[in-house]
Amino acid sequence: MDNVRAAITAVGHYLPEDILTNADLEKMVDTSDEWILSRTGIRERRILKDPTKATSFMATNAALELIQKRGLNPEEIDLIIVATVTPDMFFPATGCIVAAQIGATNAWAYDISAACSGFLFALSTGARFIESGKHKKVLVIGADKMSSIVDYTDRTTCVLFGDGAGCVLLEADSEGYGIQDSIEHSDGSMWDALCMLGGGSLHPPSPITLEKRLHHLHQEGPPVFKAAVKGMADVAADVMERNNLTGDDVRFLVPHQANLRIIDATARRMGVTMDKVMLNIERYGNTTAGTIPLCLADWESKLRKGDNLVLAAFGGGFTWGASWVKWAYDGDGN
Ligand code: ACO
Repeated sequence: MDNVRAAITAVGHYLPEDILTNADLEKMVDTSDEWILSRTGIRERRILKDPTKATSFMATNAALELIQKRGLNPEEIDLIIVATVTPDMFFPATGCIVAAQIGATNAWAYDISAACSGFLFALSTGARFIESGKHKKVLVIGADKMSSIVDYTDRTTCVLFGDGAGCVLLEADSEGYGIQDSIEHSDGSMWDALCMLGGGSLHPPSPITLEKRLHHLHQEGPPVFKAAVKGMADVAADVMERNNLTGDDVRFLVPHQANLRIIDATARRMGVTMDKVMLNIERYGNTTAGTIPLCLADWESKLRKGDNLVLAAFGGGFTWGASWVKWAYDGDGN
């Protein structure tokens, strides 16, 4: 199966309707539109306000859009991998709930937890099942309801995150399209710079964890920023260098959308001009595992068969990685 690659053959997405703007946040914490925009590039984000709906709702809707666009029979899906740090609950896996809701009765399903690198890690994992010949159709979903763990009294984090979901279908390709190469890294030595301390086996839920607000995302911004700039730029450059790609060869950089300044540093390191960078952070903020497939969904109509894309991410763990993808279809359906 040496010449078989996993190709992205369809894309789907879901964004909640409710919008939280910088002006709204100015009324909630001591911040300003000017600070948020200049430090992060974010103007607004989507929020899944309905308290009865969770990550599986967004993941299911993204998957249903893909199924409908592609005219796919859900029973043909072999495997569903959901990347998320905001699963509906610790267990069962959100993937199992999504599989049931979309009618993927022949699929097995599980979740991957790699924070903002979750979609890339899930994509690499799903690709192995296609490359091995074991599976024909793998659905990879990145979905996070970040509003369920963000502390809306903490101005250093609440301005950054939004809710959303995106997904791709992976199928075998033997004509040279699809995922060409990937690099993944993790380093847990700074795990506590970006984490949610409460609710797990270290700090099970208790009145004390509630009082200390341990059930919210915690981030030490400057050290994470420093590591993210280096990690994302280095890994994107590494995947290019080992495949002899130059900035001119790359049609689009598809970066994780955490901060415009991190994206800018990555693009410069790659020799890619900003007009070739997929950017939607301004409208959606950081949707964690959702950002990269949401970019692909927004840009799908502009993509052409053979386009070289470099996908890159950095997130909690720390985790980081990059993939070189040769796009497998014309996005406008021609
Ligand atoms: N409004 C106004 N002022 C603020 C706000 C705010 N929302 N947030 C922080 N400040 C203040 C700080 O208190 C600080 O004030 P001080 O100098 O009086 O102490 C000042 O602004 C500067 O704060 P910094 O944290 O140094 O600001 P910085 O320029 O580093 O930007 C940011 C903060 C945007 C969070 C940045 O550090 C960042 O992007 N970090 C990386 C995010 C990331 O990549 N995360 C990984 C992915 S997320 C995941 O995996 C789930």
